[in-house]
Amino acid sequence: MDWGKGSYEPTAADLLPAARELVTAANIRPGEHVVDVGAGTGNVALLAADLGARVTAVEPAARLREVIAETALDRDLTVVAGNAASIPLPDSSADVILSNFAVIFAPDPAAAIAELARVAKPASRILLTSWQPGVLSQLVGVILAAVREVTGGALGTPFKWHDPTALSELLDPHAFAVSGTTLELDIVAASAEDYWETRIAAHPLGIETLPLLEQAGRLDEVRKRVLQTIADDWITSTGQVRLKAQYLLATAVR
Ligand SMILES: C[S@@+](CC[C@H](N)C(=O)[O-])C[C@H]1O[C@@H](n2cnc3c(N)ncnc32)[C@H](O)[C@@H]1O
Repeated sequence: MDWGKGSYEPTAADLLPAARELVTAANIRPGEHVVDVGAGTGNVALLAADLGARVTAVEPAARLREVIAETALDRDLTVVAGNAASIPLPDSSADVILSNFAVIFAPDPAAAIAELARVAKPASRILLTSWQPGVLSQLVGVILAAVREVTGGALGTPFKWHDPTALSELLDPHAFAVSGTTLELDIVAASAEDYWETRIAAHPLGIETLPLLEQAGRLDEVRKRVLQTIADDWITSTGQVRLKAQYLLATAVR
């Protein structure tokens, strides 16, 4: 899937507070080499560069790499094509590896973690964020369940990126000790319809999946179910949407 399609930017704005938490928790020192994996529009990379780090932003989507490069201006920030399982950097070259809701999309979690460990220096830290099960997985689940029904796709067992024990199993063999803390992000939209348009229909995931539902005549029904799920629990008295999404901030140190 190409995360450069549609408009990822409203979601990037939603995730900025989590990027700030991630960068703060990383305790970055000036001059450190920080690698932001799955950098998107550069939420984490830009914050790290502003702390005086030398930053490499790794991002698979060409359009998003252009957005970062245009925003970076004179910061010490290099943008490269790559993904979590294929990072174009030498062994033992990063002091800090950060990934804000991005490594979680790697199709082979063990291969991704092995690649992060390869790039990390012997004394280094890796910090990741990942969603806890909750409202976002519920909303995405409505769409993906319908897509599976339409395409006949199989339901795999997703890796539990939000579970420190599961993360430890991947990181222990690379001599990283994992700890985690659960935080909460407020996602605000003007209305349920605005949430659908800006966070689902125009989001790269929506661009990828909604045409399949439309072709199968299922789009209206799925849209109604998503709007109802939001209306049931997440509308304020003024009609605003305010989703409370919990996430794990995991820190791995060696
Ligand atoms: C939810 S966005 C997060 C972007 C950014 N970190 C932020 O804070 O806004 C997910 C990002 O992961 C990237 N991505 C998707 N698959 C990836 C993979 N296998 N390895 C690394 N990044 C990936 C996407 O291109 C996208 O930029």
